[in-house]
Amino acid sequence: MAIENVLIEKRGRVAIVTVNRPDKLNALNIKTREEILAAFDELAGDAEIRVVVITGAGEKAFIAGADINEFAGMTAVGQRAVMKGRRAFDAMEDFPKPVIAMINGFALGGGCELALACDIRIASSNSKLGQPEIKLGIIPGGGGTQRLTRLIGEGKAMELILTGDMISAAEAERLGLVNYVVAPEELEAKTMELANKIAEMSPVALAMAKQSVKNAARLDLRAGVEAEVDLFALCFSSEDKEEGVRAFIEKRKPDFKGR
Ligand code: COA
Repeated sequence: MAIENVLIEKRGRVAIVTVNRPDKLNALNIKTREEILAAFDELAGDAEIRVVVITGAGEKAFIAGADINEFAGMTAVGQRAVMKGRRAFDAMEDFPKPVIAMINGFALGGGCELALACDIRIASSNSKLGQPEIKLGIIPGGGGTQRLTRLIGEGKAMELILTGDMISAAEAERLGLVNYVVAPEELEAKTMELANKIAEMSPVALAMAKQSVKNAARLDLRAGVEAEVDLFALCFSSEDKEEGVRAFIEKRKPDFKGR
């Protein structure tokens, strides 16, 4: 498969995946979604990479949603077939390393949903977020009704999904939909600062921590706490645990190897 719509840049321990269809505001057509999956598969197996940042090319958009042109004339059977394979949204969530959405403009529909499936979201102050599907006579289909509701609560999620209204980055921050809002010229520096800080941690512990936090939305409290105990104990099988504890005792910085 020729990779056309997704770029991968590696900066030390951090990889930046850029959805690259700026003339279409990085709208997710089928090919782009497949390429995102391929990019994440490559990065999952790259031991040098500990954190992934996903963003959109150009000045205007993170991702302006699914490619609406592919909906025209599409049947229910056809659409179901497109959606029933492995999905980019789930790939962010299942990815064994932290994923940060660097939101640099419109994050609408599937773009907002892709950001919701990431672990941390940082937005430029000129970004606009929303789930406008209702205006097309459809509903969010990339996990939006579930992940948005879990993240910001039913009342506000319902309002955004029923009205299709876009909200500002500042409002998104107020709702807890994004972690930080920064000036556009500071977006990359702020994102990389956070990504590099996380990338210094043990990759083993990062994977366990991500899985355990994700369990909060999947399991009831008792099962989640029990699973946390197992994941906690599993960290004790790593060389990184020994290194982290020794480094503390020896009053030095740990050097985690991901083993
Ligand atoms: N699917 C396909 N193409 C899209 C797209 C999408 N989701 N979003 C934007 N584009 C295309 C436009 O059709 C246009 O292409 P063209 O130059 O070939 O005509 C190009 O990207 C630029 O978009 P444009 O609408 O001219 O920019 P704008 O600044 O006037 O408006 C938006 C920006 C985001 C408000 C507007 O593009 C929009 O509403 N997009 C759809 C958002 C949406 O409903 N997403 C959910 C889909 S389920």
